[in-house]
Amino acid sequence: MRSIFTANRTGLVTGASAGIGLEMARSLASKLDSLILVARRVERLEQLAKELHARYPALNVVCEAADLSDPEAVERLLRQLKSRGTDVDVLVNNAGLGESELFERSPWYRVRQIVEVNVIAMLRLTHDVLPGMVARGHGAILNIGSGAGYAAMPNAAVYTASKHFVRAFTESLRAQLAGTGVTVSEAAPGPVESEFDRVAGIEGGATPAQRIFRITAQECAADIVQEFEKGTPVIFPGRNYRWMMKVQPLMPRRLFAAQVAQAARKLRQKLARG
Ligand SMILES: NC(=O)c1ccc[n+]([C@@H]2O[C@H](COP(=O)([O-])OP(=O)(O)OC[C@H]3O[C@@H](n4cnc5c(N)ncnc54)[C@H](OP(=O)(O)O)[C@@H]3O)[C@@H](O)[C@H]2O)c1
Repeated sequence: MRSIFTANRTGLVTGASAGIGLEMARSLASKLDSLILVARRVERLEQLAKELHARYPALNVVCEAADLSDPEAVERLLRQLKSRGTDVDVLVNNAGLGESELFERSPWYRVRQIVEVNVIAMLRLTHDVLPGMVARGHGAILNIGSGAGYAAMPNAAVYTASKHFVRAFTESLRAQLAGTGVTVSEAAPGPVESEFDRVAGIEGGATPAQRIFRITAQECAADIVQEFEKGTPVIFPGRNYRWMMKVQPLMPRRLFAAQVAQAARKLRQKLARG
């Protein structure tokens, strides 16, 4: 097996301050010469950089504080990379956030934030680094989607749509880049232990289904990196969940939509009761 990391030695991981991104950075560290860590909570990135330095003294780690929901901050980040002459060979678009609300009740700033981080920042970073990758004849991009990108959800219409975008964009881009030496993968995790639920305002703990499929962020990152390294187009991390994602397409779409509608009705009734 030829590893994508043979030719690609400088990586950038967004959302490296927590959860899957943090574990992705840990898993990638031994495979790269340089790693750029991006998130808002820079003190967490610095802590991680210290840990990685201790384990891999030859690794060059750079921490970049950036709010990816702010287009100006994204441009500043790109200018910063350019001023340092950094060529990104491995781009991991991982930063993302979810929600737990009916669309008409969602504050507009939240709707916008989800689209800016999950979609626009992913596009902008990819658009910026891709010409260099194509010109050099090598590069690897990993977009973190979600099982939500293969589904509908009763209380997360914008998040679900953002992950459908990630899925469709990644699939099309992969096809466009055939023969260029640049590989593009999507990882679409199911439930993963991280800060995601708290940030999304998801209450009530794990559902029985989540308990079956839930994996740790470390397990998730290990599965993803193993497949990303081989250039696998779509990665479903976790054994039980991977099996479920093979079976799910067999379920009639109408039945699936009816289940989501019923869950949404229940949610409205609960809200009406106060
Ligand atoms: N956990 C799950 O069950 C699950 C399932 C499927 C897919 N995913 C996807 O996996 C990815 C990682 O999620 P996670 O579970 O690891 O969640 P998490 O623990 O909440 O971590 C999210 C990461 O994204 C960063 N981030 C969020 N908003 C940002 C912003 N405005 N600017 C810069 N960075 C921002 C956070 O950093 P700062 O807060 O420090 O900025 C953090 O590092 C997301 O794309 C998510 O949609 C998660």
